[in-house]
Amino acid sequence: MKILVLGGSAFLGRAYVSEALRRGHEVTTFNRGLSGSDQPGAEAVRGDRTSAADLERLVAGRRWDAVVDTAGQQPSDVLLSAGLLSEHADHYTFVSSIHAFTDWGTQVVNEDSATYPCPADTPAGQAPGNHLKAGCERAVLERFGAGRSLILNCGLLVGPHENVGRLSWWLERVARGGQVLAPGDPERALQHIDARDFAVFGLDLLERGTTGRFLTTGPTGAATMKGLLDACVEATGGRAELVWVPDERLLAAEVQPWTELPLWTPDQPGWEAIWLADTSRAQAAGLRCRPIMDTARDTWDWLRERGPTAEPYVQGTTPLGIDPGKERKVIAG
Ligand SMILES: NC(=O)c1ccc[n+]([C@@H]2O[C@H](COP(=O)([O-])OP(=O)(O)OC[C@H]3O[C@@H](n4cnc5c(N)ncnc54)[C@H](OP(=O)(O)O)[C@@H]3O)[C@@H](O)[C@H]2O)c1
Repeated sequence: MKILVLGGSAFLGRAYVSEALRRGHEVTTFNRGLSGSDQPGAEAVRGDRTSAADLERLVAGRRWDAVVDTAGQQPSDVLLSAGLLSEHADHYTFVSSIHAFTDWGTQVVNEDSATYPCPADTPAGQAPGNHLKAGCERAVLERFGAGRSLILNCGLLVGPHENVGRLSWWLERVARGGQVLAPGDPERALQHIDARDFAVFGLDLLERGTTGRFLTTGPTGAATMKGLLDACVEATGGRAELVWVPDERLLAAEVQPWTELPLWTPDQPGWEAIWLADTSRAQAAGLRCRPIMDTARDTWDWLRERGPTAEPYVQGTTPLGIDPGKERKVIAG
């Protein structure tokens, strides 16, 4: 098949491109050449998806069986790309987020759950960040129609080439060794997906011409916090001692959930069901997720090959990770 990946050079898009090339598809990528490198074997077209002129240059004389949009974040941009591509491609996969569901976090969500009422033509900066993916979904559905669109609501992504730094931060912290502050209930269930498993599932659906919506993440409890951190310790050579500190003590010490200790989600209002999304439709459609140990080992191999980054990991604009002095103080109690 001929497949266009909008983005395709960083993390999930990169995994799609690798898997599509491995399967023998003809792949075009479209990006600005800023966030990563394109892979040998793919046709790389440079351009900015916010520019109609760049998109017109992309589609001129080209046609694809399918578009995979891993990179759409603003509804009006997605409306533009989907509009121009609707005459040049048969099928549009849009990688949305679990954040698009209004009740995600507080209730168990599935494919029939309500999404935020964000219009398809919302310009940048005109809606709260967690509403935008719902607007992007509408943009795809307006331009390609439900009969040619596949919406994949992505959960927490992990794996090699991760461009946020959550699992990467833990691997690097644990690799430094010593006593490591391990947050909250060791048995707290997490829900995550390796980007490579996402890409395999997404391409299986695309090859079958599947349409509709799939909540695409691993089953709840596929890993626990302890399972994830034990995997990090084992993958990095076992030099760390995990010291488990309960939620109450961490909160009293003003440790910031999610960012100072990535992936730590204490029991608090708004997060009751954060790791409980219903993934049964995706599993019935063939989604298979590898064990966290495999993801941790491969991500550590990639991190060692890549070397340290010059900039700290950030969530939005908030740096990830706890200051070593504060970590020691909290452990000491
Ligand atoms: N990480 C998570 O836990 C998580 C959770 C839920 C959902 N998601 C969603 O999953 C997807 C993952 O994305 P990814 O970063 O892994 O995808 P990716 O396709 O690997 O990387 C993003 C791509 O977008 C390109 N890009 C950015 N701005 C552009 C522009 N103006 N014009 C053209 N290209 C542009 C980047 O290249 P250039 O910068 O070089 O242009 C890069 O190739 C996102 O849609 C994200 O919202 C992620």
